[in-house]
Amino acid sequence: MPDLRGRIPAHVGVIMDGNGRWAELRGLPRVEGHRRGAERAREIIDLSIELGVECLTLFAFSTENWQRPREEVSMLMKLLELYLKNEFENLAKKDIRFRAIGEIWRLPENIQALVRETENRTAKNKGLLLVSALSYSGRNEIIRAVRKVMNSGSAPGELKEEDFNSYLDTAGFPQPDLIIRTSGERRLSNFMLWQAAYAELYFTDTLWPDFDREELLLAISDFQGRERRFGKISSGTNAS
Ligand code: IPE
Ligand code: IPE
Ligand code: MG
Repeated sequence: MPDLRGRIPAHVGVIMDGNGRWAELRGLPRVEGHRRGAERAREIIDLSIELGVECLTLFAFSTENWQRPREEVSMLMKLLELYLKNEFENLAKKDIRFRAIGEIWRLPENIQALVRETENRTAKNKGLLLVSALSYSGRNEIIRAVRKVMNSGSAPGELKEEDFNSYLDTAGFPQPDLIIRTSGERRLSNFMLWQAAYAELYFTDTLWPDFDREELLLAISDFQGRERRFGKISSGTNAS
């Protein structure tokens, strides 16, 4: 078990990938992988709370995922519905504040209602901020933010980077310090394109349904060994 002595990332983003392959490797339908993946999410949420992570964003369904076969999309929506219904009590008990980002209006109406209800009923909680990226993509979020800026009537020259943050779905959330992607793919697949500017990226071959507590500890331990320079020079370096 890694020894975590350094700074715990305030915001961890997770691209939960590999559910389908996990199931296919076992001769199971892909939905079994998604089901198992949802269980892992619970475990990772609990450990994030124990470690003192402030914000955990789970990428659950991308804008591009609407292009999957209709049966898979509808199974994923069903799982999401079950998850929101079953987890509500737990979120309250664990003092979790739930927020969804993405084009929530594209989700089936009953799920939109569940999402809004869960957000409203957990809004005053003070513990972990749990962000679910649903029908989300970074480019889509940026375009929607640009439209809001244009509609705000502010002069183009006045827009600053900090202001732009407040037009994004993640307004008010800390920037992600660590982005984890499972399943061996080394890409962002449209996740948090604006916010990821200085995130540390961690890739593992482990498929999401196998990503257990130990795996998260390894990812954070790896993060703690990174030097985040933000474009400056190493703090121990003599400039002359
Ligand atoms: C991630 O697992 C979950 C979603 C994208 C909804 P995948 O379904 O992408 O699993 P693989 O990549 O096909 O194994
Ligand atoms: C990214 O995984 C989206 C989620 C994990 C929700 P995908 O499986 O959709 O990404 P690609 O297609 O491999 O890039
Ligand atoms: Mg995938």
